[in-house]
Amino acid sequence: MCGIVGYIGNNVKENLIKGLEKLEYRGYDSAGMVISNNNEFIVEKAVGEVEKLKKKLNDKDYTGLGIAHTRWATHGEISINNCHPHFSSDGNVALVHNGIIENFENLKSYLEKNEKYFYGQTDSEVIAKMFDGELSLNKIKDVIDKLKGAYALAIISKKNDEIFFAKNKSPLYVAKGDDCFYVASDPSVFSERCQEFYSIEDGEYGCISVQGIEIYNKEGKINEKIAKEIDFDFTTSNKEQYNHFMLKEINESNKVLENIIAFYEKEEAFENLKSFDVKKYNRIYLVGCGTAYHAGLIGEKYFKERLNIDCFTRKASEFIYQNDIINENSLCIFISQSGETADTISALEYVKNFNATTLSLVNVTYSTLASKSDYVLNICAGQEKAVASTKAYLAQCLVLLILAKYFIKEDFLSVLKDFQFDYGNDDLIIPLAKHLHNHEKIFFIGRGFDYITALEASLKLKEISYIFSCAECSGELKHGSLALIDNGLPVIVIANDESCFAKTLNNAYEVKSRGGELILFSSIDIDKEIENNFKYIIPINKCKDDLMPIQTIISLQKLAYYVAVERNLNPDKPRNLAKSVTVE
Ligand code: G6P
Repeated sequence: MCGIVGYIGNNVKENLIKGLEKLEYRGYDSAGMVISNNNEFIVEKAVGEVEKLKKKLNDKDYTGLGIAHTRWATHGEISINNCHPHFSSDGNVALVHNGIIENFENLKSYLEKNEKYFYGQTDSEVIAKMFDGELSLNKIKDVIDKLKGAYALAIISKKNDEIFFAKNKSPLYVAKGDDCFYVASDPSVFSERCQEFYSIEDGEYGCISVQGIEIYNKEGKINEKIAKEIDFDFTTSNKEQYNHFMLKEINESNKVLENIIAFYEKEEAFENLKSFDVKKYNRIYLVGCGTAYHAGLIGEKYFKERLNIDCFTRKASEFIYQNDIINENSLCIFISQSGETADTISALEYVKNFNATTLSLVNVTYSTLASKSDYVLNICAGQEKAVASTKAYLAQCLVLLILAKYFIKEDFLSVLKDFQFDYGNDDLIIPLAKHLHNHEKIFFIGRGFDYITALEASLKLKEISYIFSCAECSGELKHGSLALIDNGLPVIVIANDESCFAKTLNNAYEVKSRGGELILFSSIDIDKEIENNFKYIIPINKCKDDLMPIQTIISLQKLAYYVAVERNLNPDKPRNLAKSVTVE
């Protein structure tokens, strides 16, 4: 999964780079661009972030057209050979691709038999090798008819004055500005220079040129689409006084709370849920990936405490294999910051086959997930740039709490209005991070809500510090994971629930007697005797039970952040990961 941009206008190089910078959240394994100038291609590629590509470019810029790409490797190692753009055998056609071509091996062996030589291992190069010579709309149609899988493509040739495009499953948008044209994976690329844009649908293809935009449907007929206005806030946030976006975003938790209150106190916030009757449903599924899945688990608890309806949380990538009972009495809630996560979109498409009602919670309201859902709720987190989700998790949990309360007509804002999150005690968290940063393995344990917090804390730590970590239910340790405890292994105990504190403590002591080192994150007052069992104690501010997991995760997000910083890693761009995962 990757980001693509095509541009026609002045200063092609500069505008392609600006586009790539906006798309870097989709991957940063390598970046490349090609500009068509006087029937020749000017090509530049670099392994690593867009910044590396930028450094390789000279000052000379061009008027005309070009395409560019930022890569998150799926097929083939991270190398210059596999870096996009890819080229046809005669070198006349260049292409950038986001997605995965499922039948690329068959296509490749056919092409190899026809004496096409491959310089890399990507599925994308296979598409490029299907072109030679002049480009045309007929040729594009002919090629995409042979492709199976996901693709957003931008294609140029040395001779044509157009950028051709095609889309299936991967997002793609085209736009016209006063003196420029764009094709891109995300409207943020052109939001500053264009007022409106077209959302390209699956199966559509076409071209942009100074003459205008042409879009064709699957049947090859011209499609007169209605342009959408750009009315989203794309203001790119900057790091302000922070070294990293991640810390800035953690410290925006109260701003997010404010945004949510301001949004949901307006009557129109629930406008699209007016006709909605939750009593119609006998099952609720909450579906998401990664952090969004953990928010689903929190939401499940909120719903179960209030509604007399069975609720289940599912990992989007596993949903279709569960054989769950899904029908017109099922409400499926999809949670996704980006709204572009391929697994989550596929899960939504799956439940539509059973006539389930779909409701999505997104941070990007123009996203694919939002456009395909029956109902949409905005999580109002504001732009989140760090790959590891922090404030969006908090926002997802809060909006799920609001929704659970809204469903039973309980006042959903008063509790939040009187509340401020505490940002944790850095004077305690930083020394703990210094202590942990050289460890190879870390365990997290908890019960109930605290177990979900343990799952999310463990995910945060592993994704940005690369320390092996896992979360276990406190009570489950003795059924297997306890075998892993050895001398000095840090076990972080998350314990906010008074009703099961004694049991959790017993589980913690079982760890200690086997040499494990105990660390406590808790809002419960403890005496000296208990205190002595823990090497570090991080107190958490007490608040209403519903908000406790959100309050607690802030200190654990900070712990992950400071551990990554101690290890000299960039927490904003962890290796091998990307913010928006548009492949299954
Ligand atoms: C990626 C990100 C995670 C995120 C997950 C789901 O793995 O690195 O931070 O939780 O995708 O993303 P979504 O946009 O669907 O919430």
